[in-house]
Amino acid sequence: MDSSDDADFVHDDGEHDPETEKLLHSRRTVLKSIAVAAAGAAAAGTGAGAAPAAAETVRTAAGSAYAVAAGASVEVALSVNGQLRKLVLEPRVTLLDALRERLGLTGTKKGCDRGECGACTVLVDGERVKSCLTLAVMRGGAEVTTVEGLARGEELHPVQEAFIRHDAFQCGACTPGQIMSAVACINEGHTGSEAEIREWMSGNLCRCAAYQNIVAAVADAAKEVRR
Ligand code: FES
Ligand code: FES
Repeated sequence: MDSSDDADFVHDDGEHDPETEKLLHSRRTVLKSIAVAAAGAAAAGTGAGAAPAAAETVRTAAGSAYAVAAGASVEVALSVNGQLRKLVLEPRVTLLDALRERLGLTGTKKGCDRGECGACTVLVDGERVKSCLTLAVMRGGAEVTTVEGLARGEELHPVQEAFIRHDAFQCGACTPGQIMSAVACINEGHTGSEAEIREWMSGNLCRCAAYQNIVAAVADAAKEVRR
């Protein structure tokens, strides 16, 4: 912390505000603890006989601030399709890669890998998220639903059934993302008209141009879900 931080907490008359001093103190304490933890991890990693896996892992509570040494991993706990899953991964790993490569849930597709196509759409705490654009570590403690989590045993979700009924996929690469967006679109109540469905599904691209059938499937499933 530099001295300009302290200057922010001094009144115009030169007196220190006790409340802000307290905040400043706790901020310093937090930063010091982070520095000590990071230094400890680095030192352990270079020590003779150190166990590399333990040295590289800085455990964090879900949602709390943390600092991670270069090359270190963090533990992330997610609820995925109703199951608690714990992962130790580098902070740079996207939610998409964590789902596909670490958990083997390959139903979620990787298209552009830069937020443009929507193939990687999953629900995070009920909201649609492009999983290639979010880091798994940022979602600690969240409830994630992928296309694998929609069916109840043999019984498909009404959106999945409607996609089959309306032949709303051709190659199917975009389909899992379209279905996840459709589920959210219906839950959000954005299915009042074809135009509204098109607008709220517009973050999902289909290179096979199955759009007409996708819109019909979403409209049909919306009636089914509301019944
Ligand atoms: S893969 Fe995420 S938006 Fe295309
Ligand atoms: S069905 Fe082929 S990309 Fe949509």
